Amino acid sequence: MREKVLFVDDSKKTIRMIREMFADENISLYFAFNVKDALQIIREHEIALVVSDNIMPGMSGVNFLSLLKSISPDTVKILMSAFANLDSALEAINTSEVYRFVLKPFKEEDMIFAVNEGLRRYQVNLDLRKENEDVLLSLAQTIELKDPSTRGHCDRVALHATRIARELGLPHNVNREIKYGSWLHDCGKIGIAENILNGNRSLTEEEFTHIKQHSEWGADVANRANLTQIVRNIVRHHHEKFDGTGYPDGLRENQIPLEARIVSVADVFDALVTDRPYRKGHSEEGAFHIMKQMRGKELDPAIVDLFFLCQTQNTEVLHHNNNPQTVHSLLHATG
Ligand SMILES: [Fe+2]
Ligand SMILES: [Fe+2]
Repeated sequence: MREKVLFVDDSKKTIRMIREMFADENISLYFAFNVKDALQIIREHEIALVVSDNIMPGMSGVNFLSLLKSISPDTVKILMSAFANLDSALEAINTSEVYRFVLKPFKEEDMIFAVNEGLRRYQVNLDLRKENEDVLLSLAQTIELKDPSTRGHCDRVALHATRIARELGLPHNVNREIKYGSWLHDCGKIGIAENILNGNRSLTEEEFTHIKQHSEWGADVANRANLTQIVRNIVRHHHEKFDGTGYPDGLRENQIPLEARIVSVADVFDALVTDRPYRKGHSEEGAFHIMKQMRGKELDPAIVDLFFLCQTQNTEVLHHNNNPQTVHSLLHATG
């Protein structure tokens, strides 16, 4: 896969020069003349490396790159700076906002070298993320081992939730956190006794109260593991209901974090279509029918509508392609 590199500079001359310099390199080039356009590109694409000028109208390169730290943490940052602004460039490096800087005017080989080094660094970032992801996923799978009837549930919830998030136009790093939150939404179930979790009879009130605690137990785990706020919100609030009758906090409507409202819809759909020890799963149409009745009560109506839209689009894609390989790749394309 060709990595995506974004160059930000308000000088048309510099951008033209860079475009020619990298014409034969095996990377996808993106250009922006200001920070606003650059941020838009970063929201829409998984940018491996940003090379930014420092002195630009509106926002300095140093400030722009430090903003990127929260928006796109894996993206590697290179600052271009003229000698006169060396002090601020060095400060940016010392506070580890940027990976390296290129002195302006630069030589072609210096810029190409810096970009290639930056792309190698990006690979290291990706490898580290992959290791972290593996840990999160294996935790989610441990819970599914405890409750075999929910095997694959977390993955499917992640698939549906990230589709909704993409349809909403949320930035890709938020989508990724929603994927992690979906994997872990039920991690508190680790504290529930197996005979209650796997029972094929209806629950006593006491048992149900016990099960309901999984969202708070899970939120504790997520806090202690220092997971992001998005993941914590999903774990704690995925059983809140739009009309305020859910748990653990009885939040309603927009009080419920958006990411938790998204995962609730995905979670409910998967629970409805999956076989449980005590009942057979509903057909997709049957689940849609039930969800229409939950719309505006248990579930956020706007998110339900968006989910229906995603499902229809996806069904069209599946029918159009109609091959198992495509289905497989769709199931694993969770952003
Ligand atoms: Fe749950
Ligand atoms: Fe669930």
